[in-house]
Amino acid sequence: MNPLEDLARDRQTARGHQDSNADICFLSLSEDGAPSVRTLVLREVTHEGLTLFINKTSQKWQIIRDNNQAEALIWMPSVQRQYRVSGTIEELGRDVIDTHWHRRPIESKYLDYSYEKLASQSAELENRDVLVDFVRGLREEVSEEDMTTSEQAAAILVRAAVIECLDLNNPERLHDRRRYTLDDGAWQQAILMP
Ligand SMILES: Cc1cc2nc3c(=O)[nH]c(=O)nc-3n(C[C@H](O)[C@H](O)[C@H](O)COP(=O)(O)O)c2cc1C
Repeated sequence: MNPLEDLARDRQTARGHQDSNADICFLSLSEDGAPSVRTLVLREVTHEGLTLFINKTSQKWQIIRDNNQAEALIWMPSVQRQYRVSGTIEELGRDVIDTHWHRRPIESKYLDYSYEKLASQSAELENRDVLVDFVRGLREEVSEEDMTTSEQAAAILVRAAVIECLDLNNPERLHDRRRYTLDDGAWQQAILMP
C-alpha cells in the first residue's frame, strides 16, 4: 500500500478527463506562525512525494529555508478525490531542474532570467513597463539556443510523511477518509471520520 501510487494513478485518470487540477497543487507554508498558500504546477508524483519547481529569489524560498514543513493540497473534481500531502521540503539535484528547464516555454525562461537580472520574484516594480521592456530587451540580446538553466531555478521535493485522502465516490455522502502515515518506511493506514 502506497498512497502516492494511488495519487499518481488518480492523476493519470484525471488527465484523461482533461481535468486541469491534475497538474497543479496548492502549497501551504508557514513563517512565524503566519500561513501562506500558492498554486504551483505539480511536475511529478514520485514514490517519495511531489516534485515542484520554484525560483530561489522568491519569498517562498526564504520561508522554506526558515521552516521546511509544508502541506500540499490536490483536488481533482473529475475523480472526486482530495489529497493532502504533508512533510518536509528538500531541494533536488541540479540534474532534475536541468532536464525540465529546457522544455519550458520560452516566455517562462525569459521570466526566470528576469528574476536574476531585473528583480527578485515578488519584488515591487515601479510599473509593469519596467518588466515588459526588460523582457523585450532580453529577447533581442539572448536567443533561446544560448540560454542555460537559470541558476536560481530549483526543483524541490515535498517528501511525504502523512497523506490524507478524502474520497467522495460513496453513496449517501458517507465519504471515505483515510490518513496514511509513513512509519519506518511502511505506510500505515487509519480510517477517519469524514
Ligand atoms: C496555475 C498556476 C501555476 C503556477 N505554477 C507555479 C510554479 O510551478 N512555480 C512557481 O514558482 N510559481 C507558480 N505559480 C505562481 C505562484 O502561485 C505564486 O504566485 C508565485 O510563485 C509567488 O509566490 P511566493 O510569493 O509565495 O513566492 C503558479 C500560479 C498559477 C496560477
